[in-house]
Amino acid sequence: MTSPLSALVSIISSGVEALESAYAGQGIAFPSLDEPFRPGPLDKDPGVVSATRLIVAAAHQIIATVRPPLEVVLECGSAMHMPAAIGLAVDVNVPDVLKDAGPEGVHVDEIGRKVDIDGERLARVLRYLATRHISKEVKPNVFTNNRPSSILVKTRPLEELKSNKMTKYDGAPLAAIIGHMTDDALRSSVYMGTYLKDAPHGVNAPFNLAWNTQASIWDWFEEPGNEWRGRRFINAMSGGGERFPPKIFIDGFDWKSLKDDSVVVDVGGSVGTVVLTLLKEFPHLKFVVEDLNKVIEERATKFWAEQDPQAILDGRVTLKVQDFFETQAVKQAAVYFLRLVIHDWSTPKSIQILKNLRDAASPTSKLVIFDSIMPYACADSDSAGPPPPPSPLLANLGVALGGFITSMDLGTMNLLNGQERSLSQFRALGKAAGWKLESVKPGMLAAFQFAVDTE
Ligand SMILES: C[S@@+](CC[C@H](N)C(=O)[O-])C[C@H]1O[C@@H](n2cnc3c(N)ncnc32)[C@H](O)[C@@H]1O
Repeated sequence: MTSPLSALVSIISSGVEALESAYAGQGIAFPSLDEPFRPGPLDKDPGVVSATRLIVAAAHQIIATVRPPLEVVLECGSAMHMPAAIGLAVDVNVPDVLKDAGPEGVHVDEIGRKVDIDGERLARVLRYLATRHISKEVKPNVFTNNRPSSILVKTRPLEELKSNKMTKYDGAPLAAIIGHMTDDALRSSVYMGTYLKDAPHGVNAPFNLAWNTQASIWDWFEEPGNEWRGRRFINAMSGGGERFPPKIFIDGFDWKSLKDDSVVVDVGGSVGTVVLTLLKEFPHLKFVVEDLNKVIEERATKFWAEQDPQAILDGRVTLKVQDFFETQAVKQAAVYFLRLVIHDWSTPKSIQILKNLRDAASPTSKLVIFDSIMPYACADSDSAGPPPPPSPLLANLGVALGGFITSMDLGTMNLLNGQERSLSQFRALGKAAGWKLESVKPGMLAAFQFAVDTE
């Protein structure tokens, strides 16, 4: 019988063979870890993505299996250094300083001078990162970007990055995500234990303890002095949006089946990036993008003025201020959809949002929720996901798939008292708000389609 270790090795071998043959088929070499990232034709290829996931899942499981348990738990227990280190590097613009360094690299004294940090101390932070394959130490105390660190380069000149907090993350969604996670979210995560153990009265989320505020993170972003954080978050979200292949939204519902001029409402839609995708494919529909006042008045208006002003003039797209906790003003829409909204909210609040849509719906209205499905780390008979991966991999592929979702789950709890949900939790959520789950399209983001529940 094959041992678990040998089974894991064969998963890795066949995955590597699949990757190498896909790259050979395109006449290109597999990208080197030492080279800066450049987009390639196979980056989103489904076969490559799936082989990569299996390799990553198996490699992590091999490490957990063969590594002495003491080392495993010590690495986990000291993992707080990772967000602290990568967050600092991004905050003081180290990847930007290394942008053109090439294989020769830059001595840490020079990096330190440019980013205003003592070189010797900075070297320790960069070495921690290089030891974990984020940047490379090419000679003692000389560093350069590698594939992962190169994607953290921002778009503005160094002097502007240092002097203008507001524009610092514009056009740099990945640096913005890391900035948000290693600052707003990192500090909140420290309070997760207190929040769960003590359940302090009237505190919505660990975020409120960490930042000593009663406000929701959305209102907090708007407070004087925090505007740059709000702008960083918007930049981070724009990257989050672009991360998803448009196919998820185009195929997530049978939009073609809707009659001409049917109204589709993007609830909590931010600037309306999903609507922009859908409008291109389904110009026979009318769209409404709803969000809070500032988002609509400032950001969404600017976004559409740049992206497709004609759609606004033609009335194909309407931007509407709508608090989703208030009565929904657009009645009897063909479809109400929410992307990455419900996971921000606790179950009672989510039910309230969905009930407001149910109250506005016609008997034929549909509700579509684009969110992740929380995959259990073990087999689940009520799963809409793909068939289970080969043994002995975890059912959710460990960090390769479940890693991101479980991390988002704690992130939404720490910042918002939100949560990622399993299929049965989504079904129950809909039911409590008067919606019946009709179908689920699994994927990087699942599309849950609900109809009005008449039972
Ligand atoms: C995580 S973002 C998702 C945005 C968008 N659906 C997307 O996928 O890009 C959550 C959105 O909910 C909006 N939001 C928060 N509270 C809201 C409320 N009470 N009513 C309407 N929108 C709200 C935020 O302004 C933000 O744009």
